[in-house]
Amino acid sequence: MERLLIDGGTVLSGELRASGAKNSALKMFAAALLADEPVTISNVPHLKDITTMIELLVSLGVEVVIDEKMNIEIHANTIKRFKAPYELVKTMRASFNVLGPLLAHYGQAEVSLPGGCAIGSRPVDQHLRGLEALGAKIDMSDGYVRASAPKGLKGGKIVFDFKTVGGTEHLMMTACLAEGQTTLENCAREPEIVDLANFLNKMGAKVSGAGKDIINIVGVKSMGSCSHTVIPDRVEAGTYLIAAAATGGSIKIKNVNPGHLEAVLDKLREAGASITVKADSIELDMRGSRPKAVSLITAPYPDYPTDLQAQIMAMNCVAEGSGRITETVFENRFMHVHEMSRMGAKVKLEANNTSAITTGVPSLRGAPVMANDLRASVSLVIAGLVAEGQTVIDRIYHIDRGYEQVEEKLQKLGARIKRLAPQIR
Ligand code: EPU
Repeated sequence: MERLLIDGGTVLSGELRASGAKNSALKMFAAALLADEPVTISNVPHLKDITTMIELLVSLGVEVVIDEKMNIEIHANTIKRFKAPYELVKTMRASFNVLGPLLAHYGQAEVSLPGGCAIGSRPVDQHLRGLEALGAKIDMSDGYVRASAPKGLKGGKIVFDFKTVGGTEHLMMTACLAEGQTTLENCAREPEIVDLANFLNKMGAKVSGAGKDIINIVGVKSMGSCSHTVIPDRVEAGTYLIAAAATGGSIKIKNVNPGHLEAVLDKLREAGASITVKADSIELDMRGSRPKAVSLITAPYPDYPTDLQAQIMAMNCVAEGSGRITETVFENRFMHVHEMSRMGAKVKLEANNTSAITTGVPSLRGAPVMANDLRASVSLVIAGLVAEGQTVIDRIYHIDRGYEQVEEKLQKLGARIKRLAPQIR
């Protein structure tokens, strides 16, 4: 397995352009199955998860044309099969979201259940209950969901038990081809949901209210061709801002929507960063000083995102003072804590492992580490950047799932980081 080698101790400084949002693009690939004509999606990041989604579409018989700039044209009308196999769903949960579009458009779908994952049990009960409310007949056996709607889906009212990003997106896209009106209540409000709604409307859907608690969808008979540019990746941008803050550095991120990162920018200001925001850029400057520890609670948008929890914990580990980070979205998202402790971080888990209290140390010590989820892995990159000596991060395929050209981007900021070839064991 490939690894990353980091020589710590550099102060990051420079400019970067944020990539397109992985978590938007993935859902658009699923939503493209609703269309009768080709759709084109641009600003798609070149990532392993995107390749997995393309593999899934191709396995269904869908024609996918990719140009050198990662503009991706999807011709769903060439579809031949309606099954998403375990091998593809287990490596990337977002592929489960093809279930609703296949069902809505073709009346049938067979999709593997995703199962648990490293950060929590991650059930799909809200997705399935919603599909049933739209009239789907659902059978589960051998680890697969087999869904049918021979006479088509019918609009209905769905009230989510709690905020779910995937659940909101899945039902929002499925309802586009259901007969009549659908109302989704207690919806998640993430910017990726708004981006997906804009994409669906360009394809001819009638979705209103995305980004608010209640989303209304008036079903249409068919959806057609469109071109859409994916929004910037707020989590990627936030990761580099936090990395720069942790090293006491300065950074400008271009092609970003600062409005999507307000909760994060507030915490970085609290940590001592001077932040300048323009329409599509964010500049952060620590003026060489050590960050101050922050306390926060992760929660659905617009609150502080769980996807930037591990990264800010790495900053807290070398910050002045003590901070409390509470994770409320996933039940097992502190795996990075043990690896950071091996690098000399002082972190105590409390409240049944839902809160982590850090006491900042002046510097961490490089060590061999690994993590088994995307955001935890990148938090170890930040820890490596602020550590004395060398850190080797194993299992970096997790990082490649969500960070485009991670070492090139960090090298551009002055980091001493390189990819090592797989070890012969
Ligand atoms: N949940 C259920 N039942 C459901 C759906 C969700 O119990 O039917 C629970 C989950 O187990 C979790 C909570 O509800 O505890 C929230 O889950 P949500 O559905 O909001 O998350 P998701 O759609 O599975 C997306 C992102 C995650 C991000 C979360 C929260 C994608 C592909 N994934 O996951 O991104 O952390 O929303 O914002 O969009 C990442 O990019 O690293 C990542 C994990």
